[in-house]
Amino acid sequence: MTAKELRIMYVNFFKERGHKEIASASLLPENDPTVLFTMAGMHPLVPYLLGEKHPEGKRLTDVQKCIRTEDIDEVGDDMHLIFFEMLGNWSLGDYFKEESIAMSYEFLTECLRIPSQRLAVTVFGGDETAPPDLEAERIWRAQGLQPEQIRRLGRDGNWWGPAGQTGPCGPDTEIFYDMGTPGCGPDCGPGCNCGKYVEIWNNVFLQYNKTADGSFTELVQKNVDTGMGLERVLTIFNGKTNVYETELFLPVMTRLEEFLSQRGKEMPQKNRRVICEHIRAVSFILGDPKKIAPSNTEQGYILRRLIRRMIRLLRQAELGSEHLCELAEIVIGQYGEAYPELGENRNFILEQLQKEYARFSKTLDEGLKKASRYMENMEKGGMLDGESAFKLYDTYGFPIELTAELAREKACDVDTEGFYRKFREHQEKSRQGAAGKFAGGLADHSRQTARLHTATHLLNGALRAVLGEEISQRGSNITPQRLRFDFSFGRKVTAEELARVEAIVNQAIDKKIDVVMEEMTSGEAYAAGAVGVFTDKYGERVKVYTIPGYSKEICGGPHARNTGELGSFRIIKEEASSAGVRRIKAVIEG
Ligand code: SER
Repeated sequence: MTAKELRIMYVNFFKERGHKEIASASLLPENDPTVLFTMAGMHPLVPYLLGEKHPEGKRLTDVQKCIRTEDIDEVGDDMHLIFFEMLGNWSLGDYFKEESIAMSYEFLTECLRIPSQRLAVTVFGGDETAPPDLEAERIWRAQGLQPEQIRRLGRDGNWWGPAGQTGPCGPDTEIFYDMGTPGCGPDCGPGCNCGKYVEIWNNVFLQYNKTADGSFTELVQKNVDTGMGLERVLTIFNGKTNVYETELFLPVMTRLEEFLSQRGKEMPQKNRRVICEHIRAVSFILGDPKKIAPSNTEQGYILRRLIRRMIRLLRQAELGSEHLCELAEIVIGQYGEAYPELGENRNFILEQLQKEYARFSKTLDEGLKKASRYMENMEKGGMLDGESAFKLYDTYGFPIELTAELAREKACDVDTEGFYRKFREHQEKSRQGAAGKFAGGLADHSRQTARLHTATHLLNGALRAVLGEEISQRGSNITPQRLRFDFSFGRKVTAEELARVEAIVNQAIDKKIDVVMEEMTSGEAYAAGAVGVFTDKYGERVKVYTIPGYSKEICGGPHARNTGELGSFRIIKEEASSAGVRRIKAVIEG
């Protein structure tokens, strides 16, 4: 089975059961400052899980591109990936545990033809705040699973979410494929990470909302959120033991091995896998329409770390930026059909890889010299102090993983805790400046967030009126204190233009205009002149928010009811965000 066939099989299965297919969202979450990347299919759906009505109804399905950086150290083993595709289905207050588990079981045993005895599941075993999920256990038994195929685990194993700091969460049941290998000991069972049990699907029963003060409230509607890892299922279905043997990685791996043999170099398997994984993740991040470039903050820094890790490994084998770019070209070609944004942003992807390679090659050599000076007198088994590791990071751009790798080559270690202490001290100031950053997010339906959200639409409309209709939104981020809006524009916006933009927004506020919400297909929204993110899916229903005379945008909400609720609008900053993209920060006062 190919990845394409699996995507189609999954989505069709759920469409036949009353679900509507929705498009994959951007890898960079809209309006959620609490996480850097979209890390699950449910993430773009947070407002709807909290009770907003989704224009496509109560049953949804999709294939979502995701990034999870917490598994970075595991990359190179058989199954862990930073970038992956998540197949998902949702019930927004419609079906619950019974139907969800029954559908999952049917898909696994009948569509994928996995023998029932190769499945194993875990369910929430209860703790002081919530009882064991006996219902999920009963439903699995009714499907035919034997007691030894079901294991109860605590909150660590069977509680999911929220995706960021706040939002929907609840008990889950995880579904594993038993690789058929011997267990690692008497305690081995579903959920053990020795490699025998591979997690392939997670059904979450989202019943609670975690709020900014850390408390849990019952959600008005009981939701189901499931996510299946495409790469893992493809591996298992095709009888492979690791993701790198699937069609998704073989072309990149083969080309890398050709490069190595041309140079007469060897590279350990783990490093080859790291390159194949990271080149795909990096191509997708750079290929996102939001045009994130490597930098020293937030998503840009994650990107930089992944690229630099590859550069260091490639340079060891005397491979250059042309090799890095050729590997990216393979990914772009392979995924171009399912994710056209990769092809559309091909030049940006290659250009950024070349630039980062050149940039890091310069400091890499100097940094390597400095590092060997730091380490020259170290005995075997010695420890490089955190301060030196921080210096290598700060001056030469060495990610901590790289410094640790260098130390390992000398059979030494690095005081990573000391490094992070220094790192945190350094960041403390900027973090204090950004206090409150984590209080917002998609799950924040406060009045202030709604007001800033509406102000963002007015700003977008006013910018189009002053600078021209060709500007387009590149990103938006709202905290309770301010809004931030990124848009494509080739030069600095003048003070006079900013004053006009401010005046237009304040005029709309003074006029106390009602904000109108309508549902329509994306085709109709386009025809009506709405701006916003259009999905490619023909006929998908969207919400359009209109502030007559000022703005018409596709958006999930929430919004103020009337512009009069907003208070006075003030731009506090205009700056470059990346090449061709400007950033405005603004507040509403009063
Ligand atoms: N949100 C859940 C997960 O990521 C199910 O998709 O595991």
